[in-house]
Amino acid sequence: MLELEASCLTPEPVLKASGHVDKFSDLMVKDAVTGTCYRADHLLRDHLVSLLQDTQSDLTQGQREEIEALRERLDELSQKEMDEMLSMYGAKAPETSNALTPAYPFNLMFATQIGPSGLLPGYLRPETAQGIFVNFKRLLEYMGGKLPFACAQIGLSFRNEISPRAGLLRVREFQQAEIEHFVNAEDKTHPKFGNIRDVKINMYGRSQQMRPPYKPIVTSIGAAVDEGIIANETLGYFIGRTAVLVDKIGMKWEHVRFRQHLEHEMAHYASDCWDLEINCSYGWVECAGLADRSAFDLGNHSEKSGQELTAREVYAEPRHREVLAAIPNKGLLGRTFKKDAQTIMKSLASMEEAELLALQAALASKGKASVIGFEVTKDQITFKVEKRTETGRNYYPSVIEPSFGVGRLLYCLWEHCYYVREGGEGEDGSAIRAVLGLRPSMAPVKCAVLPLSKNALFEDMVKEVGQLLGRAGLINRVDDSGQSIGRRYARADEIGTPFGITVDFKSTEDRTVTVRERDSTKQIRCTIENAVETIRELVAERKTWAQVCDQFGVIEDV
Ligand code: ATP
Ligand code: GLY
Repeated sequence: MLELEASCLTPEPVLKASGHVDKFSDLMVKDAVTGTCYRADHLLRDHLVSLLQDTQSDLTQGQREEIEALRERLDELSQKEMDEMLSMYGAKAPETSNALTPAYPFNLMFATQIGPSGLLPGYLRPETAQGIFVNFKRLLEYMGGKLPFACAQIGLSFRNEISPRAGLLRVREFQQAEIEHFVNAEDKTHPKFGNIRDVKINMYGRSQQMRPPYKPIVTSIGAAVDEGIIANETLGYFIGRTAVLVDKIGMKWEHVRFRQHLEHEMAHYASDCWDLEINCSYGWVECAGLADRSAFDLGNHSEKSGQELTAREVYAEPRHREVLAAIPNKGLLGRTFKKDAQTIMKSLASMEEAELLALQAALASKGKASVIGFEVTKDQITFKVEKRTETGRNYYPSVIEPSFGVGRLLYCLWEHCYYVREGGEGEDGSAIRAVLGLRPSMAPVKCAVLPLSKNALFEDMVKEVGQLLGRAGLINRVDDSGQSIGRRYARADEIGTPFGITVDFKSTEDRTVTVRERDSTKQIRCTIENAVETIRELVAERKTWAQVCDQFGVIEDV
């Protein structure tokens, strides 16, 4: 996979071609009196939830089910439907109970001017993807013209969200990590599909969303692709890899699902789309979108920029076929249309078979027809069937795109990993210990280094352990604050440090130290060198803590 770092500032023509200038919007409503703005789908969702929770309401079971079904498809509502639903369910401005204005689209891009003249309009990029599409030619050249290939980009994206909220979950400037995988539309198989075929996911496909009990089902990626629920192998491959990724970083499987977009909900460029949704205290949150963008982007950029962003497929054997060709009467066209004759002839030469057939029929029946706005007559153009040998064809590659929001993933991970442990001494002296149970590979600090007490006797060895860990590439933090060892363990637990090495009196006699694991709180004793090597193996997940306990034996009386 290639990697690219494109600019955040994007000239308007790029985002015009991509459709963002015209279509990248959310529906907004205002408080009709105060002018306070609300994102329409969020306001309606909150309103529906309060209707469902109202213990005084006399909703029938059928009405409740209707509201629940609507709540699941709010993203899908058109502007007109949104107005109808807001009025049908009596939604008002939440703070004032004033009436709402009709819903209208609000473009989410931050506009700016590029350069000193202020004449070149631009935007802060709303997604990193466009930087990859406009550089497609160079990437293809780097790949020696061969497809499929992918390019990734991690960087900031900017959206003028109507109501930013929930910490990292909805911000106006966020870290995106996107992959654009370019593939021939006629062959969306993936060579490594076999690796993820048996990966199981909680699949919330269209049919599960439309029918009771409105719940995901467990299925393998292989089965979902075979049954045509996931559109193709390449999209399935990335869904599978995403499932493996979130499992590996420590998300709770039962709180992870893949939700397919309903037909009307898909972004303007997508032909099939699945969201990675993760359940946290804010409900189900979209943390990644995996879309088949078909050939939408490269086709549009080519058309608007005049640069052919195509790849070439070379046929195994040359193909012979008969094609209809338009033969212009150059002299006559030149005399009739002067300098425009060239443009007409160019257009004739680039016409598809269907267009030529239509032109031929029109000239035969009416004696005249229009070619790019010019009226041509039957004596100016004749037709003949030609034999052609083709060695290949140029085509617009399709794009499969996994798009991750780094902040949303991290936030959900922190919630999934966080737990409290009763008993013992917490960081603040209370009996409750907060633990951030991050997997060792994800924890920013891998090991705490602790002298048993603030005794000068331990200083050199503590320093040495810190240095040895550092040399082994293990980020560590020495805590010689003098607080009780229990409180210092608690402090390390709270920031997710998975291991702790403690230097005690025995260490100064025989160079052994204790190693403690955060979740089991069990300890073993071994030499300093063994401790460092063991932690390295544990962080790389080449060993489990249970194996380490078997190897060295758990110390019972700590
Ligand atoms: P939403 O419907 O929640 O606004 P979206 O469908 O607009 O999200 P995408 O356009 O699919 O989101 O963006 C791809 C990814 O970028 C999302 O899955 C999400 O993780 C992240 N993302 C999008 N908008 C934001 C934001 N305002 N703050 C943080 N992350 C975001
Ligand atoms: N590139 C996909 C998105 O940002 O929506």
